[in-house]
Formats: sequence, structure tokens, C-alpha cells
Amino acid sequence: MILVTQPLSTPLRGELQPPGDKSISHRALILASLADGESRITGLLDAEDVKATANACRQMGALIGTHGDECRVVGVGKSGLKPPRQVLDMGNSGTAMRLLTGVLSAQPFDSELTGDESLVRRPMRRIIEPLVRMGARIESSPSGTAPLRIHGNPALQGIDYQLPVASAQIKSCLLLAGLYAKGLTCLTEPHKSRDHTEKMFPVFGVSLRLPCCIQGGGRLTAANLRVPADISSASFFMVAAAMVPGSELLLNNVGLNDTREGIVRVLRAMGADLRILNHRLFGSEPVADIQVYYRGGLEGIDIPEDWVPSLIDELPVIMALAAVASGTTRIRGAAELRVKESDRLAVMALGLTTLGVRLTEFDDGIDITGGTPAGGEVDGAGDHRCAMSFAVLGQVASEQVVVKGARNIDTSYPEFPAHFKAIGGNLEVQS
Ligand code: S3P
Repeated sequence: MILVTQPLSTPLRGELQPPGDKSISHRALILASLADGESRITGLLDAEDVKATANACRQMGALIGTHGDECRVVGVGKSGLKPPRQVLDMGNSGTAMRLLTGVLSAQPFDSELTGDESLVRRPMRRIIEPLVRMGARIESSPSGTAPLRIHGNPALQGIDYQLPVASAQIKSCLLLAGLYAKGLTCLTEPHKSRDHTEKMFPVFGVSLRLPCCIQGGGRLTAANLRVPADISSASFFMVAAAMVPGSELLLNNVGLNDTREGIVRVLRAMGADLRILNHRLFGSEPVADIQVYYRGGLEGIDIPEDWVPSLIDELPVIMALAAVASGTTRIRGAAELRVKESDRLAVMALGLTTLGVRLTEFDDGIDITGGTPAGGEVDGAGDHRCAMSFAVLGQVASEQVVVKGARNIDTSYPEFPAHFKAIGGNLEVQS
């Protein structure tokens, strides 16, 4: 898929609800599948990554069906998973693979997980090592990547573990394994990563000990959940409205969990006009409507390293924003970007350089000096967030921007081109 964008001469205007939060959707499906009874989930993300989790849960016995906007999941109970008959294909989704590995390590059967060409390059030792300490047996490639062959062990032991990086996928993988383990599993992280798993366990009747410990042996009971709109998907519109003169957008029901709201802080620090309206809760998750007005005068900033975990997935679109802000934006402490769906530092640096943006790439970050990007052809490199970030930047480039390698926007936001056009964006899809 190729996205073709033209410079906009009219503002972005309107109101929309971005799709359901991807992180919360994966977790809702997994916990509902492990619960006793029928759970009802509204607002679940309908995109390839979450479908990979749903298919895996189905293959292990959960009944998952859609009724209008509602997804109903009849769980098998914590000890009721069936051995999958096939290799479980997680597609492009690191979250699906890492979270399910935590569950599968504790089962009384063997299983195998694989993924697409991006996922089989991503590091899995970060989950294998602590799981092995708990008693898991997992085979990987010599370089510690998928496919993962998991020899299930229903006698895992709880651990006390200090995560080497702030990662909600590692933390959630180990909390899920800890649910099955003997004793207590306690996790500490260098910086707080997204806490959706911690917030969701109590909704299914399993209480955690603060700050992040789980006592093995608990059972989950079915629950009703409403998934907020994904702030990561909303961020493309927040940035676009901050860039395109005269824009005014209202984004409804956006998840504003404090472990995810770094994008709001960055936009405000750079001078954007964002208003947060109707703060409320969807169950345990904070939600609000976000109004963005174009104000102009965006200025580059130094992004504090301790903000990085709260905006890790928004860094590609922040790099696009930095490309039009006056002065230099400095991002450091973001080496994790190199092991996402692509090496996001390299992919963004290459594309921005093609568009004439001045930048210096570092091992763990980038300095970007803003101006007016030129037109050209850039490569999203199969990374959904890089592709959408280039499409946003194309709205304010001086000429047409063509984004190759954009097919994977289907992993998180299949409606992105339609939503972007509906608010006045100039974007055509070519397959
Ligand atoms: C996610 C955690 C983050 C994030 C990813 C989703 C999750 O990854 O980048 O898109 O749902 O737990 P890490 O845990 O590797 O930082």
C-alpha cells in the first residue's frame, strides 16, 4: 500500500473518534478468555494486531464473537485453555506474542508462536530470561527471536524481578505468568511503563499488591469493559491540527491514562493549543475529549528522558512535528525505538532526510531542526506508525509526498485514510 499526500491549503476541521486502544484491546481479549463466564467488550480495536490475539485465544478454546459494537467472549477459565492445534501466528504484534508467551509458559501443554518478518526479528530474550527464572522452558532462534517453542510448565515459581527496560510488554507477560505461578511475582521498572494490565486485573476480580505484585493462584471472573479510543491513533490528528493553519479538531473518548499522555505534554510544551474536556472514567481507565486548535508558532524542545515511556509510540509523529517547529527538538533515551516494528529512529531519519529535514541521528535518539519539508518519496518500511507520521507531515510539505511501505497501517488503524480525509486531509491510497 502506498499513501500519496499533497500539501494542504485548507484547514483540518471536524470531530472524530479514533479506534479502540490497541494495548487495552489485547489485554481485554486475553483476560476475558481466561475468565469464567461471558465478558462483553465495547469499542474493541478491529485491526490486524488484535485479530492475531483473538485468533490465538479462539484456537485455545475461547468463544469470541461480535454483535454490533460489542465483542462477547466466553472464557475457558484460568485452567481451561486447550492445546492449540497449529502454530500461533502473531502477525506483526509484539504485544500479542509477549503477553501470550507469559500465559503459555504456565500451561500443561506445548505451543509455538511465530510472526511476520518484522516480528521474528524482534528481541524475545527480554521475556525468555525472566520466564526461565520462573521455571519456563522456551526455545528460540540462536539470537533470541521467534519462532518460540514453549514447553509448558504448570509449576512456575513467582519471582522478584527488576526489568532492565521500562516495558509494559515484559511487565504484562510476567504478571500473566505470575497469575499461574506459586507465590508472589513482584516487578520493578526503571521508569513506569503503561499500566493497563495492572488496571484491568481487578476488573476481572484479581487484585494486585501495589506497586506491581501478583499472588499466583487467583481466578478471573467475566467482566464488562468499554475500551477508550487509542491516544496513539489520536496523536496523528493532534499533530496534524497543530501543524495545518486554521485547523480545529475534536477527538472524542480518548484514553488519557497518565502512563500514556506524554504526547499531550510535548504538544503543549512546543506551543500547541490543546484543551482536555469531559474528564471521566471508562471503568478503571481515564478518558477525555481532546480539542486541538491551530495556533502556529511551534517551537522545538528538549524532550526529558523520563517522559519517553509515556510517549514511546508517539515518537515518530513527534519527529514529524519537530520537522516543522522552529529550532531544534532533541530526543534521547529512546533506544527502544530501534526494536519496535521497525528501527524507528533509522526509518524516520531516512525519510525526513529525503524530505530535506536537517537532523542528526544518535544511538538512542535524534536532533531535528524544523523548517519546511520538501516533497519526495519516503518508505514507511512496513511500520504503521512511521507511515502515518509521514502522511501527516505530507500535509505541510512544499510538494507531493509519497509514502511507500504503508500496508501495515492495517495493524492498528485500518480507517486512518478515511478518517484523515473526513476531516479534510489530502491523502490517497494506492495499492
Ligand atoms: C505495548 C507496550 C509498548 C508499546 C507497544 C504496546 C503494550 O512496548 O511500544 O506498542 O501494549 O504493552 P514495550 O513494552 O516494548 O515498550
